[in-house]
Amino acid sequence: MLKMNDCVVFTDVGPRDGLQNQPKILGVDERLALIAALSAAGVKHIEVGSFVSPKAVPAMAGTDQLVARLPKADGVNYSALIPNRKGYELARDAGARTVNMVLYASEGMARKNVNMSLAEAEQVTLEILDMAAQDGVSVVAAVATAFCCPFDGPTDPGKVREIIARFIESGIEQLVLADTIGAANPMQVRKLTGDLVVSHGADRIGCHFHDTRAMGVANVFAALESGVYRFDGSIAGLGGCPFAPGASGNVASEDVIMMLDQMGVKTGIDLDALLRASDLAQELTGTAPGGRAKAWLGPWLEKQKQA
Ligand code: COA
Ligand code: ZN
Repeated sequence: MLKMNDCVVFTDVGPRDGLQNQPKILGVDERLALIAALSAAGVKHIEVGSFVSPKAVPAMAGTDQLVARLPKADGVNYSALIPNRKGYELARDAGARTVNMVLYASEGMARKNVNMSLAEAEQVTLEILDMAAQDGVSVVAAVATAFCCPFDGPTDPGKVREIIARFIESGIEQLVLADTIGAANPMQVRKLTGDLVVSHGADRIGCHFHDTRAMGVANVFAALESGVYRFDGSIAGLGGCPFAPGASGNVASEDVIMMLDQMGVKTGIDLDALLRASDLAQELTGTAPGGRAKAWLGPWLEKQKQA
């Protein structure tokens, strides 16, 4: 019997996965304000941006300046996404302490996202792992299209298990299953995460869901039931990959945190302050959908304050 955890480690990826796909490009000051609002809510892991070609993703230009201006020693683990070796070098030189490299469970996505084959992306990841060990940088790898690829169709779970086993053997600290286009269902999630937790333990495995078909929180719950306790979400449901047709926003942080809070699972995140971060995300972007939790949670929290 797998054990459901009573604490969750939550990473808000809104400042990266969220903002990369927005029509409105935010300045470094605005991006830092959003990060500060998340940190004020008690979010201890924040993916702040990516070191990618500014021609490919203009919204992520200036991530080097942003990283240089992040508060030091505030107890928050700031990470940045990298797609390749150049991204790693830029991130390291900018002072990033944790990088999120992307692996792929499908050829189509590897090709469209980074113009590499799946095998090339794996080779580059191994090289980055070596460099990072020397530089004292932590590496987390996300396996994109872990459930379905917009180009190649459904992903064979055996392939995902094989990639994860191989990279754990190569010494990677953590791997994240990314449902890039939001195509997973809770049964699939429970089966795959259950197998992975049995094989590798829950410390090594995280989950990253998109809410394209309103199954985001159900998928979080399914993985939680398997013993997974590391989850990504995005403030105000921002998000989507510019190179994955059909990808919509990540599961909203406020929805995930509200569900966990109501079930008595500890996250260390203050819901009231998280709603203020969500308001800010909506104000800054003009298009962030906002989680489903907000309409109910806002008045409910108000009532509690008055009681
Ligand atoms: N950061 C900044 N610039 C980068 C870069 C990085 N990590 N990697 C490559 N570049 C630059 C190169 O310097 C080159 O610049 P130039 O045109 O001014 O000479 C240009 O990008 C093309 O480089 P090349 O090595 O030929 O890359 P490519 O064309 O084979 O691949 C990517 C392009 C992958 C670099 C680009 O499409 C990219 O950054 N994509 C981002 C993917 C992403 O963010 N996806 C969403 C998150 S998963
Ligand atoms: Zn994503």
